[in-house]
Order: sequence, then structure tokens, then C-alpha cells
Amino acid sequence: MSHTIAIDGYSACGKSTLAKAMAKQLGYRYIDTGAMYRMVTLFFQRQSVDIEDEGAVAGALSGLEVDFVPGSNDALLNGENVEAEIRTLTVSRFVSPVAAIPAVRRAMVAQQRRMGADGSVVMDGRDIGTVVFPEADLKLFVTADLTIRTDRRLAELGASGKAPDRAAVAENLTERDRIDSTRADSPLKQAEDAIVLDNSALDLSAFIERGMALARAIP
Ligand code: C5P
Repeated sequence: MSHTIAIDGYSACGKSTLAKAMAKQLGYRYIDTGAMYRMVTLFFQRQSVDIEDEGAVAGALSGLEVDFVPGSNDALLNGENVEAEIRTLTVSRFVSPVAAIPAVRRAMVAQQRRMGADGSVVMDGRDIGTVVFPEADLKLFVTADLTIRTDRRLAELGASGKAPDRAAVAENLTERDRIDSTRADSPLKQAEDAIVLDNSALDLSAFIERGMALARAIP
């Protein structure tokens, strides 16, 4: 029997770290839906798409294929590995307005549902438990303090050779959360039946173990 685990929450609070670790231990497929919106954003930036222009958005969406490299899960945009490029602050600054566009969400949600229909998955994002898979077997809503989230994102960006300043990173996280939570279409919010995991005071292995204990309890 296949299972669906939905993991939602604010920006940089450890959702994908948890989702990846759980998928690996459970032998499920991991799907990073944030990477899909980041790929759309990169494509729109490259094509200089005016996001206020519905026709231009629809045209651009028809020329775009988002996928993942089997095994590594790197982001694949029209066959090109764009994993590093979609993580830059340039993409992070533009992604929330792009992800608020209903036509963009329709296209991504349809693809996410197809991917989830293929077998057991752990999917992370903002609207997985509320919109994409409201019938998920387990819904987690992850939170962490802004200071901790900023530190983690800075460490990630530093590790990949980019070193933006702390204020710029904190501002981007706050601004994305604001746009993501207040948009009209599928705003970020906790599903009523989601279990909240605050990892501010948890080390990584304890955090993953909490998620795994809940997954093991799925009937
Ligand atoms: O997860 P990540 O931080 O990479 O997501 C980037 C952005 O993509 C989010 O800030 C949000 O605007 C958008 N997103 C979304 N719905 C999802 C996943 C991500 O709107 N399911």
C-alpha cells in the first residue's frame, strides 16, 4: 500500500532536511515542491516574463518542464541541472510573487499530484497538507525561530560559496513567509489535522526521530 506524507511550514525551518531523511529511511520518493516553484521562477527570470501579463505567463508555462534527476534529486529545468542556480538569493527574492500566480500553482499542483500517485512519497512545501494532498496519511507542520532559521540558511549559502549578509537573508525569509501566508490562492497555513513540530530546541537526529516515530505509527 502506498503512503503520502505531507510536510509544510515556513521558509528555512528544516522541512526539506526532515523530508529527505524520512524518505530515505522509509524508502519513499522525496519531492521538493519549493524547488519546482524555484525552477519556474528561474525560467521566468531568464525569459524576462512579465508576471502581471497572464498571456505571457501562460505562454511561458507551456514551454517549461520541471523535473528531478533520478537518484540525486537535483532540480531539472527543461533537461538542465539548475540545482545550484535555484538556491541563490536572486531566485529566492522573486519566488513568492511567482508562486502566488494561480496559473503557476495549477500547473505545479497537477504535476505534484501525478508524482504522488506513482507510489509512496514524502512531499514538502507550503500547501501540501491543505491543497495538494488533503487526504495525506500524515501531515507535519514544521516551525522554528527566525534567528535559528536565518543561521541555517546563512550556513547553507556559505557552504555553497555564496555569502550574503545576515540582514538580507532574514529579510528574505520574513518577506517570503508574509507573501506565502497572505496570498489568495493556497496560502501557507497549518492543516487542521497537521501535527506541529517545532525544532528550535531539537538537534537534527531528535527532530528526524520525531518525524519517523509519527510515520511508523501510520496505520
Ligand atoms: O521550500 P522553498 O523555501 O524552497 O520554497 C520556495 C518558495 O516556493 C516559497 O517561499 C513559496 O513562495 C513557494 N512554494 C509554494 N508552495 C509550495 C512550495 C513552495 O508556494 N508547495
